[in-house]
Amino acid sequence: MRTLIKHVLRRDTPGDDLHVAGWVRTRRDSKTFSFLELNDGTCLANLQVVADAGIPGAADLARMTTGASVEVRGRLVPSPASGQQWELQASSLRLLGCAPDDYPLQKKGHSTEFLRGIAHLRPRTNLYGAVFRTRSRMAYAIHRFFQERDFIYVHTPIITASDCEGAGEMFRVTTLPADKAARDAEDFFGKRAFLTVSGQLEGEAFACALSNIYTFGPTFRAENSNTSRHAAEFWMIEPEVAFCDLESDMDLAESMVRFLVTEMLEHHEGDLEVFAKFVDKELRARLEFVAGRPFERIPYTEAVRLVQGSGVKFEYPCEYGLNLQSEHERWLTEVHFKQPVTVFNYPKEIKPFYMRLNDDGRTVTAMDVLVPGIGEIIGGSQREERLDVLLANFEHHGLDAANYGWYADLRKYGSVPHAGFGLGFERLLMFVTGMGNIRDVIPFARTPGHCEF
Ligand code: 4AD
Ligand code: MG
Repeated sequence: MRTLIKHVLRRDTPGDDLHVAGWVRTRRDSKTFSFLELNDGTCLANLQVVADAGIPGAADLARMTTGASVEVRGRLVPSPASGQQWELQASSLRLLGCAPDDYPLQKKGHSTEFLRGIAHLRPRTNLYGAVFRTRSRMAYAIHRFFQERDFIYVHTPIITASDCEGAGEMFRVTTLPADKAARDAEDFFGKRAFLTVSGQLEGEAFACALSNIYTFGPTFRAENSNTSRHAAEFWMIEPEVAFCDLESDMDLAESMVRFLVTEMLEHHEGDLEVFAKFVDKELRARLEFVAGRPFERIPYTEAVRLVQGSGVKFEYPCEYGLNLQSEHERWLTEVHFKQPVTVFNYPKEIKPFYMRLNDDGRTVTAMDVLVPGIGEIIGGSQREERLDVLLANFEHHGLDAANYGWYADLRKYGSVPHAGFGLGFERLLMFVTGMGNIRDVIPFARTPGHCEF
């Protein structure tokens, strides 16, 4: 059976009959033998294969160029070369697929912009291999974090009729022909349907039954903001906890971020070195700093006061009643506090209908976790559990209460204080890898004007 190169390189004993396969990174020839650097994507490192000119399959060596796929059998022996413990002394080779001269990854050192244009091939590079292995490990760590704490994983629907965030940024799902005047009742679901922006509302129904739940799935937003931190399709993790207030919600959010940062520091399997060396020299120090400290916590009014008193000329205004802009969030975390900051109690006017109204009547129990380099990574709140206040909120936000009858029922029958948040998975990945653009931490990015692959 074929052995993954990751497992070959981890062996502590030599081996006689190993079978590996991968893509050629480089080949060097001498008169009587060739070196192949083979990578199968299971780890950063290549396996060095030494192939004598006389072995079966060696006649194809000249066509085993960068990018070609190859199968090798051979003997694992200690390598005389420095920097690697093992090399594979090939007993036979088999060329599976050639890579002609126009293979775009011949040379190293392509720009991230160029590689985005070949997103189907970029996972074969060292950097993107590291990014997508990290993505997988972080997803697994998120499930572990919740499962170890007895949270129940709920699959909320991707097609929905309700706009959770009320921001009107939904993609319509329809089977109506484009050339016909659209009549909603004739559509597939008998009414307008959309791709979900959040699994929260359905998540709340499950928290109000199973106590502690989380969702982890794709979400969609048709916001036309072409920034390095927004994608039209992104993944979100949304825990929802019954019998929980804002304070405990913030505790959970912060401990989750610290858990994932610690995971990145302890179980990166060599990928962290790639990011620390080629992407962001400060990365390791920043992660260690975040893993070791509680986050700063300030009310929104205090955040506004600090930004206003900063003396910095920002592009966007900062005053009570406006959203904090990314530049303000970054100033708070990078310049002022130099650590993650959780901002809470925002004015009710700038937050969605479901957030719990505070006793001051002006603010809601919202909280955003802000991190250096990115800004908002988590948004959450305690939910409005009082039926009368919720119904009034529908009216203030111009929502048709008839569409949210099931959601109001959760308050009518056995209502409980509950709270939750949403962690943007790609934003987390940007934070733990240092990658500066969301397009580079998702396999195939969907952004305004871009839906290739
Ligand atoms: O702050 P948001 O909009 O909150 C919600 O959706 C709530 N329903 C969550 C909840 O309480 N259950 O989004 C949550 C997070 C943001 O903090 C951000 O990290 C990420 O989702 N996010 C995006 N990530 C990438 N591209 C976008 N367009 C994003 N919009 C939000
Ligand atoms: Mg938000």
